[in-house]
Amino acid sequence: MEITVVGCGYVGLVTAVCLSHIGHKVTCVDIDKEKINQLQNGLSPIYETGLEELLQKNIALGRLHFTTNHKDSYKNTEVIIIAVGTPPKQDGSANLDSIYQTALDIAKSIVNDGIIVIKSTVPVGTNSKIQRYIQENLISNVHFDMVSNPEFLREGSAVYDTFYSDRIVIGTNSERAARTLSAMYKKFNTQAFITDPSTAEMIKYASNAFLATKISFINEISNICEKVGANVEDVANGMGFDKRIGHAFLNAGIGYGGSCFPKDTRALVHIASDVEHDFDLLKSVINVNNKQQKLLVQKVVSTLQEIKGQHIAVLGLSFKPNTSDIREAPSIKIAEQLIELGANVVAYDPIANENAKAVLPNEVRLVSTKEEAINGSDAVLILTEWEEFKDMDLQIYVELMNKPIIFDGRNCYDLKRVKKHNIEYHSIGRPIINAYMDTTLFLER
Ligand code: UDX
Repeated sequence: MEITVVGCGYVGLVTAVCLSHIGHKVTCVDIDKEKINQLQNGLSPIYETGLEELLQKNIALGRLHFTTNHKDSYKNTEVIIIAVGTPPKQDGSANLDSIYQTALDIAKSIVNDGIIVIKSTVPVGTNSKIQRYIQENLISNVHFDMVSNPEFLREGSAVYDTFYSDRIVIGTNSERAARTLSAMYKKFNTQAFITDPSTAEMIKYASNAFLATKISFINEISNICEKVGANVEDVANGMGFDKRIGHAFLNAGIGYGGSCFPKDTRALVHIASDVEHDFDLLKSVINVNNKQQKLLVQKVVSTLQEIKGQHIAVLGLSFKPNTSDIREAPSIKIAEQLIELGANVVAYDPIANENAKAVLPNEVRLVSTKEEAINGSDAVLILTEWEEFKDMDLQIYVELMNKPIIFDGRNCYDLKRVKKHNIEYHSIGRPIINAYMDTTLFLER
């Protein structure tokens, strides 16, 4: 099949590469010349497990092309997949400027019948609006069908998720389009769920909002656990055995971040208010998340009492492991709070340092190894659960830190493991380990 994908961001690029890998001829377009140049040379502008290898392979096989020439790439293609960004506006609603611009370009370029797919996350009703908009602006007498086909890719495992997805949602009023898209995805071996466009659009928002709700729920439970002396990890585990609940997305931590959950939850609140529905539950989920991102620093303050002038090491900056993405990462707010309180912050991330530099306060010193960050520190804050931190010898903290006190925002270490070392260990929703140390061994307060 000949497919054009518009937008070489996370979603567009991964989709294009994976579709080419199952044998389709895919052209990927973007307005960013530098990005297209890089991609033409087989270099991925994003860090995504397995992506660059597949990118190079399929370019070499002649099935994957990159261009900035929108007009040509829309001309003779069977399916156009729109995967441009829909960033949040000030009020939380989605900015659809790129979607409309792409729709206009398509209307002014297509000369054959075809299928236009919206993969970007868009408010409910957008597919119908874009269908009308394209129809009004067509310059040729062609027939096109519209499909809403939301993505459910997790950053870091987006290639895996594309090949082994739980579901493919196809929202369309055209049986022909549903058949064509099902055939396009056939080799992914995933059952397609076919519905109407508005329902498909809502499935995307509802899924992300529900996952965010699970996270805020367990974070609230973790806060209560800390007060009643229970262990949230075991609570989540015990809950998860119930198949109706499941184990996934019940890891308590410092709140969700990334390019999707914060944006999509705010957008859904907005979508609801547009139809005069006050989405109280989701507003609380967002509030809980905002509060959760601040709790770790409160723990640091109440433990160290004075953090002005203290050397605080931050391990992990990306919003989750295996990605260099720091969009809406809790690390940003946490670093800002620490700087505001006068701490000397030294931070390290295995791959996100470069991205972090642009958004973290200038006062944060970025270093290239965890040892460098930890060396001479008065406290360590773990903000991303990278394997590198989980697997490290805990004795390194004892040897390198001024006072070995860890505030683990991601529950990286088993409590029994920590107990074997002279480390004061604060985590999320679990008992504090070796708290006695603050008065007996290390702290002069
Ligand atoms: C998410 C959705 O999973 C995906 O289906 C959607 O299409 C895009 O948004 P992503 O943002 O890449 O994917 O990351 P995800 O792995 O879902 O994690 C999101 C955030 O939630 C991260 O900050 C993560 O640390 C946090 N999280 C996740 C928790 O705090 N606890 C959990 O149990 C799971």
